[in-house]
Amino acid sequence: MTVEREIPLSEAEIAVHWREEGYFSPPPKFIGQANASDPSIVDRYAEDRFPDCFTEYAELLSWDSYWHTVLDTSDPPFWKWFTGGRLNASYNCVDRHLAKDRNKAALIWVAEPENEPDAVITYQELYRRVNEFAALLRDYCGVRTGDRVTFHLPMVPELPVAMLACARLGAIHSEVFGGFSGTACGGRMADSGSRILVTMDGYYRNGQLADHKAKADEAVAEAAKQGQQVDKVLVFRRHRDRYSSPTPMVEGRDVFVDDILPEFRGRVVEPVSMPAEAPLFLMYTSGTTGKPKGCQHSTGGYLAYVAGTSKYYQDIHPQDTYWCCADIGWITGHSYIVYGPLALGTTTVLFEGAPTHPDAGRCWRIAERLGVTIFHTAPTTIRMLRKLGPEEPARYNYHFKHMTTVGEPIEPEVWRWYHRVVGKGEAVVVDTWWQTENGGFLGATLPALQPMKPGSCGPGVLGVYPVIYDEDGNTVEPGSGRAGNMCIRNPWPGIFQTIWGQPERFVDTYFRKYCRDPESKDWRDWPYFAGDGAVQAEDGYFRILGRVDDVINVAGHRLGTKELESASLTVEEIAEAAAVPVIDETRGRAVEMYVSLKPGQQPGKAVADKVSAAIDREIGKIARPKHVWIVSDMPKTRSGKIMRRVIAGISNFADVGDVSTLANPEIVDDIRHHVQSQKVDLGEVPRELSAQEADEIKAFGQEG
Ligand code: WT7
Repeated sequence: MTVEREIPLSEAEIAVHWREEGYFSPPPKFIGQANASDPSIVDRYAEDRFPDCFTEYAELLSWDSYWHTVLDTSDPPFWKWFTGGRLNASYNCVDRHLAKDRNKAALIWVAEPENEPDAVITYQELYRRVNEFAALLRDYCGVRTGDRVTFHLPMVPELPVAMLACARLGAIHSEVFGGFSGTACGGRMADSGSRILVTMDGYYRNGQLADHKAKADEAVAEAAKQGQQVDKVLVFRRHRDRYSSPTPMVEGRDVFVDDILPEFRGRVVEPVSMPAEAPLFLMYTSGTTGKPKGCQHSTGGYLAYVAGTSKYYQDIHPQDTYWCCADIGWITGHSYIVYGPLALGTTTVLFEGAPTHPDAGRCWRIAERLGVTIFHTAPTTIRMLRKLGPEEPARYNYHFKHMTTVGEPIEPEVWRWYHRVVGKGEAVVVDTWWQTENGGFLGATLPALQPMKPGSCGPGVLGVYPVIYDEDGNTVEPGSGRAGNMCIRNPWPGIFQTIWGQPERFVDTYFRKYCRDPESKDWRDWPYFAGDGAVQAEDGYFRILGRVDDVINVAGHRLGTKELESASLTVEEIAEAAAVPVIDETRGRAVEMYVSLKPGQQPGKAVADKVSAAIDREIGKIARPKHVWIVSDMPKTRSGKIMRRVIAGISNFADVGDVSTLANPEIVDDIRHHVQSQKVDLGEVPRELSAQEADEIKAFGQEG
């Protein structure tokens, strides 16, 4: 970290002021059919029943052999769940449903172009496809148990098929979000040591057929640069018998999957019986420093946890038509489009495109046509749909019983629109707080039993005991009105096992801060540090305030300031770079970059564009900054560290705090004038920030 703590206030001490919101009750119709309607369930997961309470989740799965130990704490904080047990994730999500539900839809894929028919894939058809692709991976690519296989796939049925095929072989999949750049994908391939890339020629997004294959070439080049050779690139074709990309195939390395798949027609691959603690997949996410972290998730604990939370918190029944409008390239999609819903044998909907394409009614047409009963999305999508079509949902005849939100704090006003207009007042709303590292929900209301409160995720979920600590490790009491660091006191089955290849970083980032005794083998001494600021009301409900580290949450996607800054520094003219968040009405937060130039370089649009292009290339378009401000110098402390909170204040038209301790305080007015006058010209003066937002900006980049 390059930023010095300048003001006495720390994230954990910021006062939070907002109005307490009233409760909403779950609709009686919902309660009548809910999976969790018996209030005794809360007692079954009380702390004195931990960890055995989680055997109930594990029993939702089919095991080849049972575990002898529910929670093995012999090597803290590398917890092992259900040790001794063996199972296969692909078997659990596919094979075991055949006896009863062979011809039921497992996946319904909705293409973005509205004139293209849906692909309805039954459990039987899924079984066939998973087996054939597993055979191809094993016999054509030589994939073995424990190998890593990288996917850079968009939202197409081939993605869950490929995931389940790897799981069948006991190979570890690593899906990179399709919107990430080829370079970002290549970096992740090198980090995980994968020599196989599975991709697609193109896909539709906002009416455009994107050339996705071009990214595969970039990925292979970047992986090679980082010392990882890629042997095979398997390319699915978006359109049958037609190649949709202008980028040539590379002889000997690239193959069309549909050219070789016929060789594997009808092949059956026995699911490999895996130990519960065998890794199932990697999911990369951004952190405070440098490289993205490969979060390693387990087979038994993870699958049990997503099955259990899908059952009780998403209220998934086998007869539901469930639509999580997220991307499988994020953990949300892994847990709550693929593994959770399929483990429970329901019908899960996959949508290729943008939720607003071609208009604000698209989601509601899909919901009406497919009879969707459960809908899951992110606040950023809700804000967008509300802005574009506040009255649209009423025009469509769909009825959700259950809706969730995930990924960022949701403003109470947006929550109420979601409940009243999207849910037509008939659905429960479950605000689910968790992270890539967690596997599944950690904070949420139990839908039939606990009332909803707009803007709060609720209490800890079943068997999870969160707590807020201040900087010194003292508990911040519920109802105190003080914010602090969100932590979880106990392990849970869905927790990631380690950061791939970096076990020390795993311990340091998540457990070091509040560990009571590094020698202890008692889980009570190893609270998990989530990196979020939060406040707990008297009723025990948590309100998440946002990240306390240098991570900017743009539309529910985590971007590390360090990654943005190092991408900017690849531009030759740039001497220094700093990324800050600005409050954005739809995306929650957006990124603004501040850069200073090397001596002799000319400022101008050309350089700013180069910075944006570098971020596109290194990370992906989702990270593209709203503005790149070229400044003559950065506000710095006397020890030369950039004060991000000062420029964050300027970008947000907020108080910049005390600048008297800066080495160059005179620069602040220059930058303010330069940036704010251009924003005024662009009509970008924000509304006045709420006290909570102002606190967040003030705290940005402070942690030393
Ligand atoms: C960060 C994790 C796993 C979900 C998708 C994002 C923020 C997540 C909420 C929520 C307020 C939330 C937190 C968290 N976040 N859910 N319901 N309310 N904030 O996963 O990319 O790992 O990001 O998203 O800041 O730390 P992720």
